[in-house]
Amino acid sequence: MTGGAGYIGRVMVPKLVEKGHDVTVLDRNFLNPAEMENPFAHLNVKFIKDDIRYFDPNLLRNKEAVVDLAALSNDPSGELDPIRTWDINYVGRSRVCRLAKKLGVERYVVSSSTSVYGFRDEISDESTTPNPLTTYAEANVAIEKDSLILREKSFTPIALRFATAFGYSPRMRLDLAINAMAFNAVKFKKVKLMKDGQQYRPFVHVLDISNAVITVLNAEKEKVSGEVFNVGSENLNLKLIDLAHTVTKVTGIGDSIEWYGDPDKRSYRGSFEKIRTRLGYRTAIDIEYGVREIKEKIDNGTLEDRPEYHTVEYYKKLLDAKQLIDRYGYSMNASVL
Ligand SMILES: NC(=O)c1ccc[n+]([C@@H]2O[C@H](COP(=O)([O-])OP(=O)(O)OC[C@H]3O[C@@H](n4cnc5c(N)ncnc54)[C@H](O)[C@@H]3O)[C@@H](O)[C@H]2O)c1
Repeated sequence: MTGGAGYIGRVMVPKLVEKGHDVTVLDRNFLNPAEMENPFAHLNVKFIKDDIRYFDPNLLRNKEAVVDLAALSNDPSGELDPIRTWDINYVGRSRVCRLAKKLGVERYVVSSSTSVYGFRDEISDESTTPNPLTTYAEANVAIEKDSLILREKSFTPIALRFATAFGYSPRMRLDLAINAMAFNAVKFKKVKLMKDGQQYRPFVHVLDISNAVITVLNAEKEKVSGEVFNVGSENLNLKLIDLAHTVTKVTGIGDSIEWYGDPDKRSYRGSFEKIRTRLGYRTAIDIEYGVREIKEKIDNGTLEDRPEYHTVEYYKKLLDAKQLIDRYGYSMNASVL
């Protein structure tokens, strides 16, 4: 798994190990505390601190599948440095996919996003023409295309468009809507909401994302090879204002909404019929559970705020070359992020 030290990977790797898989993680480890050299040491998972753009291809020998999660992982992070975003999210992952095929890996799963639908009034399914509004979304469209055309009898590429994730992970993301709202509600008795609240987003719990990946890894290849699947469920296509009300209700803070930002242009809803009917996949976790889970982790002291939990601000800091050199020892002229 590439990018396995991130928010989704930190939940997915233990699930794969639990199912008996032998997992190797390759990640630059940008987002964990500097002293955490292997976030999966307790699970005996091999951890390679390297870059998807430069790693030794031999690492892919004798692997059955690659789950390619590595990326600058959201729209605003991607806009910080569009060239690097393209270099990692498209060129880097395209390299992983081509090398995987060349070295005999049978299955390749790439993480894309329902944000490829951009702004759209009607519900989007996998046949809807993408409307990418950011470099991040454009890179997702490009890597989907590049990987899926490599489909062959001996090589099964699959693209998963995850809805916006929520829920607890040991490498937390407090830049994700539900996580941020729940955190602010519990800590500061306030929910911050991006104007004008009327925008729709599909959501999915991070454990349900893990189950979707496990589902496609185990599916008959004829059902998944060369295919794109939206990952989520229709009942979690929500308007942000309704989401805010759910969070204030579950956390019992009354109607304390604080507005911010300019009206967000991205509004979209997903159809999840394909993954449901073709693979029998269904999500299991609702918003209320995710909010209660975060509240519980804060209340019992497991979840505290950390700079790296705010992806955009943290990547902004990492872009400061001096900090990168201090942290990773790269030379000034290296392509550091
Ligand atoms: N979390 C969501 O809501 C969501 C929704 C849709 C799609 N996705 C996609 O799922 C994937 C994982 O998302 P996440 O939320 O876990 O993000 P994350 O930012 O927490 O994790 C990404 C990981 O990739 C690693 N990484 C970045 N560049 C790298 C490089 N060049 N080489 C090696 N490792 C590198 C980072 O160190 C980090 O551990 C991403 O591709 C993201 O775009 C996430």
